Amino acid sequence: MNSKEIREAFLSFFEERHHTRVQSASLNVTDDPTLLFPNAGMTQFKSCFLGVEKREYVRACSSQKCMRISGKHNDFENVGVTPRHHTFFEMLGNFSFGDYFKKDAIEFSWTFLLEEMKLPKDRLWVTIFEDDDEAEELWKEHTTVPHERIVRLGEADNFWAMGDTGPCGPCSEIHYCLLDDPSQATAKGLAEDDGSFIEIWNLVFMQFNRSENGELAPLPKPSIDTGMGLERITAVKQGLSSTYDTDLLRGVIGLCEELTGHTYDGTSYEVKDLRTDLSYARDVAMRVIADHSRAIAFLIADGIHPSSDGRGYVLRRILRRAVRHGRVLEFKEPFLKKTTAKIVEMLGDVYPELREQAEAIAQVSEAEEVRFYETLDGGLALLKKEVESHSGSTVFSGKTAFQLYDTYGFPIDLTEDALKAYGMTVDREVYDRELEQQRDRSRSERASKKLSFQTLEYSGDPTTFIGYRELSSQQELLHLEAEERTKDVLTAGDLVRLVFAETPFYAESGGQVGDRGSIELPGVSLEVCDVQKTPAGHIVHTARVSAGELTSESIGQGAALQVDEELRKATARNHSATHLVHAALQEVLGDHVKQAGSRVDENSLRFDYSHFRGVSPEELRDISQFVNEEIRRNYEAKTEVMKLDEAKSRGAMALFGEKYGDEVRVVEIGPNSLELCGGTHVQRSGDIGFLALSTEGGISAGVRRIECVTGATFEQLYLEQSEELSALMHLLKGERRDLGSKVERLLARLKETEAELEAAKSQVAQASTGSFIAKKKESSSGVSFIAESVAELDAEGLKRMVDKLRVELGSGVVALGSTAGGKTTVVAGVTKDLAGKIHAGKLIQEAVKESGGKGGGRPDFAQAGGLTPPALPVTLAAISRLLEEAQ
Ligand code: ALA
Repeated sequence: MNSKEIREAFLSFFEERHHTRVQSASLNVTDDPTLLFPNAGMTQFKSCFLGVEKREYVRACSSQKCMRISGKHNDFENVGVTPRHHTFFEMLGNFSFGDYFKKDAIEFSWTFLLEEMKLPKDRLWVTIFEDDDEAEELWKEHTTVPHERIVRLGEADNFWAMGDTGPCGPCSEIHYCLLDDPSQATAKGLAEDDGSFIEIWNLVFMQFNRSENGELAPLPKPSIDTGMGLERITAVKQGLSSTYDTDLLRGVIGLCEELTGHTYDGTSYEVKDLRTDLSYARDVAMRVIADHSRAIAFLIADGIHPSSDGRGYVLRRILRRAVRHGRVLEFKEPFLKKTTAKIVEMLGDVYPELREQAEAIAQVSEAEEVRFYETLDGGLALLKKEVESHSGSTVFSGKTAFQLYDTYGFPIDLTEDALKAYGMTVDREVYDRELEQQRDRSRSERASKKLSFQTLEYSGDPTTFIGYRELSSQQELLHLEAEERTKDVLTAGDLVRLVFAETPFYAESGGQVGDRGSIELPGVSLEVCDVQKTPAGHIVHTARVSAGELTSESIGQGAALQVDEELRKATARNHSATHLVHAALQEVLGDHVKQAGSRVDENSLRFDYSHFRGVSPEELRDISQFVNEEIRRNYEAKTEVMKLDEAKSRGAMALFGEKYGDEVRVVEIGPNSLELCGGTHVQRSGDIGFLALSTEGGISAGVRRIECVTGATFEQLYLEQSEELSALMHLLKGERRDLGSKVERLLARLKETEAELEAAKSQVAQASTGSFIAKKKESSSGVSFIAESVAELDAEGLKRMVDKLRVELGSGVVALGSTAGGKTTVVAGVTKDLAGKIHAGKLIQEAVKESGGKGGGRPDFAQAGGLTPPALPVTLAAISRLLEEAQ
């Protein structure tokens, strides 16, 4: 059976037993803040176990894409070294949410392994939690496992928890004996994990929820969560001792062999010296590349891009580590594009997202790989130097490790991995301290840029935003805080922060700037310049007093709040246009386009998005045409509040990484745009008026930025441009369509005229050689020479003139310098008879030493450039002096 058949056999087996087959959740999980990635099949069902979510089924089965690279379950260090650890893997699982419990779980697993997988019974062993008598009884009663092969183990092995918090419970594991003679296997070997067994299936009897303070509360109903690594069961079924030899990964290793000409041995997993045993080092590298290529392909397929934090940084770490291992294999050119394409080929049938995103996978991985080449070798050289300067030591400097991270882009685990070959480890204490100091620096930089409204001295109820409907409101002032806390009386020019129970002012969020407007209190006028929301939900209006006096007496007084309607409308036009631009990008460039950030104010909109190629002028035209069509169709912009699940099932676009509550606001503008959004919008798309792209370009690997203007801003821009165009037409005396060719002709004429001018100048200069001959000097050794500056002559003109003077002089040295077109040049020539005595190249070289610039040349002719105009007389004086001194 191949892996595809095994996966299918598992899912059908449980479907036949009334389990609903559920698709794998994305690696880009957004609904669980405690998790970076799904690390087990159960994570997408967490709330079903906790009883907070009810689904149509109480039994489920899945093959879940998992990553174990951070947090409680982290296998990164073992990848490539052991025969069966992975960053990415697939977990087969069956689940019961308060339906069946231990007995069925045990029976199902035994039946599947014996009847479907046809595994030899004499190789199967079982472990149970040390005081789980019930499990022991059930195994004995309902399966055929020999009693002496049921082993009790402690909490470390047989109590499973998803993370520091969440559902957990005792578990029972099924192990497979790898020894040639299974009768030699012992319970001790199993307990000590001596390599004679491989764990294949974990049955968790979910009974508790662990809270943040570590307490275990019982779940509403006992449940079942099981997990079996597809890689492992495939290896066992195929009679292989390593998951790397299965059809899930061996193809990539084969490709590495093909591309590099090295052969994969793969017979030994005994840890050897990576420096001296090159065949072993290459085996490790090929396994790492196979594992990492699979992780890279799946991560990118789920919309994750390399970045400096979160999931994107995990991708970067994996990718860069693969690239470093590529150095061990001596790849001649970027290889990740090929190894990830192999993954797409091998698994695209089962995971269609790999096919859909094949181009993104290739482009993003290659771009990041090539980018890392810029610093990889420099970093490796530094690492080697540091290792050599501390030979004999096992500790690698934490400071250098930080430098490798900060300057060379070496994630710390990459450095640690590279150091394995030298038997060294990083001084983590120093490294962590350096890192922390850097974080502190950037934190305080950020803090000093932002108003520290987080420290607001107010603890009343959160503010209610009423600005979707109202632009003005009468409110009582609840809280007042001076920017300069020492002041008691605030007068014109002072900054204050104000809080009300309700406000029509929109607080900056989702990329949309806060509203501006005015607040009037009895005898006091204020101008609102910024509105922010604190984490506690208070909307803080930062305002400047424009008239009157404000004191603590003002608290409790009535205030008239008025949002600036024009600004709000202009901002709304840009915000709604942003949604249409998002839809247009997906329409024109493809569904892989994801929002990576946005900024909307009254003047323009900026939208950052993931896309791995340049955007052609035709695509840009299509994007703006699409948006303008949608504007002209004048759709109503509808907003609706609904449950998050409903919004998602209606296909609303949500922002990755954004945390949404249970209830969300959905904005719909026509049939092509449906987004979760809390911003303020136009009433109908036609209100936007018109959209014009102003710029588009890449801002980092795989991320691009588009900027646009709309409505009145566009009108203003258009009017200005029209006026400029009319002025040009008038000046050039032509129609609009003729302007291009007219300007071309003018430029050509200008070029000709400049050339004529140059020629004329040099003729004039040449004609005046007589005056230079008159200035000739003689050195103490009797050599005639001229060292003079000339008005505005370029290098060519100077050369011609030097040549002419050389002839006229008969015997001697001529050095002329000039500044023309912003460039200062000196040219020197020596007559033939002085060959061997005076070397023009050396003379110039010596002369520019004092004045900066660069120079040199042949014995009879040389030139210096790169001089500043004031350096010209200095250089000429140096030449005179050197010649005077020459013997
Ligand atoms: N959730 C359990 C595990 O990952 C089945 O081992």
